[in-house]
Amino acid sequence: MITNRRILLVVSGGIAAYKALELTRELKRRGAAVRAILTDAGAKFVTPLSLAALTGEKVYGDLFSLTDESEMGHIRLSREADLVLVAPATADILAKMAHGLATDLATTALLATDKPVMVAPSMNVRMWEHAATRANMETLRTRGIVVVGPVAGELACGEEGEGRLAEVADIVKAVEDFFEAAAPLRGRRAVVTSGPTFEPVDPVRFIGNRSSGKQGHAIAAALARLGARTVLVSGPVALPDPAGVEVVHTETAEQMLRAVNECLPVDVAVMAAAVSDWRVRDVAEAKIKKTKGAAPPRLELSENPDILATVAGAGNKRPRLVVGFAAETENVLANARAKRVAKGCDWIVANDVSPAEGVFGGDNNTVHLITGANDADVASWPRMGKDAVAARLADAIARHFGAIQ
Ligand code: C5P
Repeated sequence: MITNRRILLVVSGGIAAYKALELTRELKRRGAAVRAILTDAGAKFVTPLSLAALTGEKVYGDLFSLTDESEMGHIRLSREADLVLVAPATADILAKMAHGLATDLATTALLATDKPVMVAPSMNVRMWEHAATRANMETLRTRGIVVVGPVAGELACGEEGEGRLAEVADIVKAVEDFFEAAAPLRGRRAVVTSGPTFEPVDPVRFIGNRSSGKQGHAIAAALARLGARTVLVSGPVALPDPAGVEVVHTETAEQMLRAVNECLPVDVAVMAAAVSDWRVRDVAEAKIKKTKGAAPPRLELSENPDILATVAGAGNKRPRLVVGFAAETENVLANARAKRVAKGCDWIVANDVSPAEGVFGGDNNTVHLITGANDADVASWPRMGKDAVAARLADAIARHFGAIQ
């Protein structure tokens, strides 16, 4: 359940900080991607180097380090996670969280995050039982922060009592349980198309387009993260296969349609590929030679199958929710709304792909989600990263299935 989940681990300064290393290893062993923030006090107990070695990532520490900020600002750091886990959480960091202080990178990221937060407190029993800590924990619990431990036992200071960091296995279990509960598409099946198609002219030439596949691949990954069993039918792209997703590689529209048909029935189909409308009718078996003085060859085209319309009209195999994309360069909304009806799909994601927007191949996208025929069924999202568009679309899909169950 935690494969590919992105966990931002905040390690604050307590004697139990060394257990963050074992925790990291166990989370990684289960396939999670762990990125760590180490507070100054935390760095007194474990070195950034050991955390970096175990996470396989740069360890973040200093809010005002120019290189940290230029590489990845604290906002992005806190948003590019599915869960923020503070382990160990000292009385000090819990107090700062409860009161909204942002005095270093860890507390700033915790204040900036819009993601769920889990804390594993660890401190002396008197500190844990202090009225101030109790009040802070009450505040944090009321805000929905998940608390694991602490447990009773012998404490580093020699005293006995409640305050020991929960066992690493129990923290891992709490993380797994959290993601299990946060997988609203568990048990659902999804198929996503992505990328361009290449339609051969001869064995070396083809007709293609500028689609990079970034948006479609991000959508497949986002659906998988929410628990859907996802097949990504990809055209030729220069992207790695997203983890946690079954990928079928195709080249032409006909191959893509065949691969999509083989996935049916599914609960949701998101057709984000830029499928060529035409293919060359008679593909030459050998490379077409340029002969001096001869007229250039003429290519006769025939129409490709419309994958989206085919899936939307698949009768009893029709997915319960069919989502198409409309890449438009003018009259974006009007054309997209017409396309929703013409293709018979349920939702259309409309984006403006005029060159000025830099959508093709770029990392950002400005989209409108059209879920019905009325004006109220159009949601215009602000310009955001393609990953963020994907996450938001996956959330909307999850909500849709929640609402109709
Ligand atoms: O008609 P147009 O290509 O603009 O429609 C875009 C939508 O239709 C996209 O969702 C795209 O994946 C899908 N499409 C398709 N098969 C085609 C052409 C477009 O699935 N042959």
